[in-house]
Amino acid sequence: MSSTEARGSWGSRVGFILAAAGSAIGLGNIWGFPTRVGQGGGAVFVLVYLACVFLVCAPILMAELAVGRASRRSPVGALRVLLPGTRWWVVGALGVLAGVGILSFYAVIAGWTLAYVYFSASGTLTSVPAGELFARFTANGPLTTGLALIILALTAAILWKGVQGGIERASRAMMPALFVLLVVLAARALTLPGASAGIAYYLRPDPSKLLDPRIVSTALGQAFFSLSLGMGTMITYGSYMRRADSIAVGALWVVVLDTAIALLAGFVVFPAGFSIPGFDPASSGTGLIFTVLPRLFGSMPGGHLFGAAFFLLLVLAALTSTISLLEVPVAYLIDEHGWTRHRAVAAVTALTFVLATPSALSNGASAALTRLPGLGMGFLDLMAHLWNDFALPLGGVLLSVVVGYAWGIDCALDELRAEGARMPGARLWGGLIRYLCPVAIGGILLGAVLG
Ligand code: PHE
Repeated sequence: MSSTEARGSWGSRVGFILAAAGSAIGLGNIWGFPTRVGQGGGAVFVLVYLACVFLVCAPILMAELAVGRASRRSPVGALRVLLPGTRWWVVGALGVLAGVGILSFYAVIAGWTLAYVYFSASGTLTSVPAGELFARFTANGPLTTGLALIILALTAAILWKGVQGGIERASRAMMPALFVLLVVLAARALTLPGASAGIAYYLRPDPSKLLDPRIVSTALGQAFFSLSLGMGTMITYGSYMRRADSIAVGALWVVVLDTAIALLAGFVVFPAGFSIPGFDPASSGTGLIFTVLPRLFGSMPGGHLFGAAFFLLLVLAALTSTISLLEVPVAYLIDEHGWTRHRAVAAVTALTFVLATPSALSNGASAALTRLPGLGMGFLDLMAHLWNDFALPLGGVLLSVVVGYAWGIDCALDELRAEGARMPGARLWGGLIRYLCPVAIGGILLGAVLG
């Protein structure tokens, strides 16, 4: 077996696109995006978000895919191969740690969505006040820990089967299901009474909000997380790409699908939210999905089915992301330490579970973890803050420096143009990677450091 066969590769271009879009599309799109639009003032946030996606995130996505494919390695090995004798591999190591760190809290939230499929279908969600149910449920430590374990076990079972037989097959099955569910839900939400107020809020910009610099940093951070950038997920997925497939075309597909799904999720959440009397998108915060929307499920005919379908959608979206988070450390152990895939999957899953437990216990089950002494936040929130607000942007700045200056735009362009692939806007891409990306992402990092 040659080394590429041992590592695995995508079976087709569509397989790659669905897997990479699956990584990108996740809780960040269906939960995070509408929540941030709500807090960030509606349509203005949406516009700023789109600018961030196309000007900053799409170029980084292409850079990550190019690094992966040129080196045929996951992040640590990739930078060792491309920049031998330097210490740039540390950027990849940060990504490997981020994979475990992000998965540890992401799996807990994904576990909540799994429980909510059941709560909706069984009618529990509509018989108990939603806020009370959420508080009681998340405080049940053994239950939420067990649910996180189920998510991790499902993730591991998929990765166990490898790149093509596991990741690609699962994405091919789950992504179309996700898409159909979302379209059906949007159609239902748009026909609810009051839906038009939600659409106006979502689509009509309020110019007074444009001057708020926090909108830009939140939008960029959200776009970055949503496209799974800054931790080498896309380096790893790029390393399984065939040279015959164009990176630019693949990246464009991923960006368009990820953005379309986030926008579509808004067409479910806002019309549905505004159909509830007294709904305030800005004050609902993270409770939007778990406590606000359930009130709607209780009041509409067939609401328990609508609710169950909605949470099933979240579970599917989460799973195609958790597999990509786990794949980064797994691929690292395979590439750099010669582990078998099965051993790597088992070890990283166990480690992640150990780290997930305090997150699962930090919503009421343990008083100390729920309010960490001196920090005023819970363990899960601390993890989300550290990895999303510091580690990912740091990884993003360093990656644009690596590609823009150390490896170099010319080498990267050679990869982007491999086998005669067309690469329109090559100079613009180089300029964005060298100047705009590090400055813009560095800006959000600085904002996070300054508090
Ligand atoms: N992009 C995923 C989401 O939107 C989360 C993710 C981040 C996945 C980083 C992999 C790497 O939910």
